[in-house]
Amino acid sequence: MKIQIINGPNLNLLGSREPDIYGQTSFQTFFEDLQSQYPAIELSYYQSNIEGELIDKMQEVGFTYDAIILNAGAYTHTSIALLDCIRSLKAEVIEVHISNVYAREDFRHKSMISSACKGVIAGFGLNSYRLAIEAVVG
Ligand code: DQA
Repeated sequence: MKIQIINGPNLNLLGSREPDIYGQTSFQTFFEDLQSQYPAIELSYYQSNIEGELIDKMQEVGFTYDAIILNAGAYTHTSIALLDCIRSLKAEVIEVHISNVYAREDFRHKSMISSACKGVIAGFGLNSYRLAIEAVVG
């Protein structure tokens, strides 16, 4: 099984960015834990701050991988281009958020991409990604 994790803008700063909200662990450290926890899954990780690069990566893997776990960051709330991309792929896409977006500002309550995703997991810290893997392998 092949699963691609994709993180969007500002998520390269995990560990130092607003640690009260996003925690103190870097994604690289967390990703290494994930890989050792799921040795049978081919897990890949990609991060970009650029909307078009996220789309390029999703198009690259979205016809051969089983699933994409996508934290689109703030593009979640704005990007019709990401919505259209998700709709075009064969792989299932799981939307994840580290924080509980519904407990935050109103503008974070709206997701442009949820309707095209298999499901949404939000609010469990970095564990949201682990829960998404569990949802895929279920
Ligand atoms: C986020 C929530 C978004 O509203 C925010 O813009 C992010 C991170 C999360 O993982 O909680 O960058 O997707």
